[in-house]
Amino acid sequence: MTRSRAPPPASPDPSTLVGRLLFTGASLDPDNRCRASGYAVVVTDAAFTDSEKATLHFPGGSAEFPILRSVDGADAVDISTFTKQTGLTTLDQGFVNTASTRSGITYIDGDQGILRYRGYAIEDVAANCSYLETAWLLIYGELPTPDQLGEFDERIRRHTLLHEDLKRFFAALPHTAHPMSVLSSAVSALSTYYEDSLNPKDPEQVEISTIRLLAKMPVIAAYAHKKALGQAFLYPDNSLSFVDNFLKLNFGTLAEPYEVNPVLSKALERLLILHEDHEQNASTSTVRLVGSTEANLFSSVSAGINALYGPLHGGANEAVLTMLKQIRDSGQGVGRFVERVKNKEDGVRLMGFGHRVYKNYDPRAKLVKESADEVLAALGVSDPLLDIAKELEQIALDDDYFKERRLYPNVDFYTGVIYKAMGFPSRMFTVLFAIGRLPGWIAHWREMTTDPATKIGRPQQLYTGPAARDWPTGR
Ligand code: CMC
Repeated sequence: MTRSRAPPPASPDPSTLVGRLLFTGASLDPDNRCRASGYAVVVTDAAFTDSEKATLHFPGGSAEFPILRSVDGADAVDISTFTKQTGLTTLDQGFVNTASTRSGITYIDGDQGILRYRGYAIEDVAANCSYLETAWLLIYGELPTPDQLGEFDERIRRHTLLHEDLKRFFAALPHTAHPMSVLSSAVSALSTYYEDSLNPKDPEQVEISTIRLLAKMPVIAAYAHKKALGQAFLYPDNSLSFVDNFLKLNFGTLAEPYEVNPVLSKALERLLILHEDHEQNASTSTVRLVGSTEANLFSSVSAGINALYGPLHGGANEAVLTMLKQIRDSGQGVGRFVERVKNKEDGVRLMGFGHRVYKNYDPRAKLVKESADEVLAALGVSDPLLDIAKELEQIALDDDYFKERRLYPNVDFYTGVIYKAMGFPSRMFTVLFAIGRLPGWIAHWREMTTDPATKIGRPQQLYTGPAARDWPTGR
């Protein structure tokens, strides 16, 4: 279907944007960033186009809805007055067609396989930025200056310690606990230690909560790992970089010195960057939904971690490894497994394949696949599971079932093999995804809490239960 599209509007007049999209009374600085109450929010070009409207005819009338222009990607029909105008509701199971918000953080073109953070191609970000630099870009909207980055890094290093009581919290959980459950519980528990800084409307409190989360969540994650191993928790080593500190907390022991392997460090940093944001995915939407109730940042992120846990989302990286092992152990070969997927036997899916948005090769998967060979070679590891993964990918890419449905490997397909080579148990894989995604969750939560258009997230429903009926007599 072709779509006629009017030329993009001329550069918007900031005075019309302010108050419409951002803050009444906010001001723009020379870089076109809106500054209000200490928050920095990048102004996007999205604006109402009064001339373009979509008309809906329905039994009993018709209604018009403005079309909102995007900077890139699909424009949006603004249906915020839909029920008021029509008396109807809209049904869009799984939000397949529905934008839940305006956002200026990340752009994905699923047909072209494009991913951009704040306008920068993921390939450039991954090649040139550190995890923290990318986090700054996502959260504050621009690349940091060296001074800004240095100060940010220093602040995070100064906040890595967990309260000693919180460390005891881990003792109450079984050592068999899944580290994702441990992570979400402990992140939720963080809010009990910082009750004086939970106000989402206070920029200084939001700022300190941002720093605390970025600093402490990797420590919590490493403790979840150590807990499962039955090993003592290490204190963070603030002389180390973010990623090196994390590696030491996971793989160091109190018995001997730990030296960070630079190959491992570089590879992990790259993987974390690739996961930092992915616009309105299930976990980010969860963070936004919880945050829309004015819940604090820790509670909102904890909810996001739980949403990420599922095998259709972040949990897919762990599920891919389980699937590869099952193929290896069954001795039935890759071809037989693909047949089972195509026959939808017991709901078997090819984990790490397919995506709601990407209908082309996931650009992150491309970068991860490149890393897989490099990392395994550099670490001197050879893993037959990587060979199975490659064979599986090739068979699927050549098969009509996958071609017709435009199913390609996603970011989770090869990450597990790399994490395994690094020494992480498969139950930690989704935890690593969560650390990667944290800056994105924070950026979206902050964008949402400072957007005057934000309303509490409260969908409607199409009721399908019993119609009104009389109460049974005698009951
Ligand atoms: N294996 C086999 N068939 C699949 C797969 C798959 N991985 N994914 C989709 N399909 C089929 C599905 O059965 C359906 O076929 P049909 O039309 O015959 O019923 C068709 O493709 C469309 O699938 P869908 O379930 O309607 O697509 P969706 O957009 O609702 O689901 C998805 C997206 C990611 C949940 C799904 O592709 C999937 O389950 N993939 C495996 C899990 C996975 O790898 N998740 C990680 C996603 S990327 C990381 C992240 O951001 O979370």
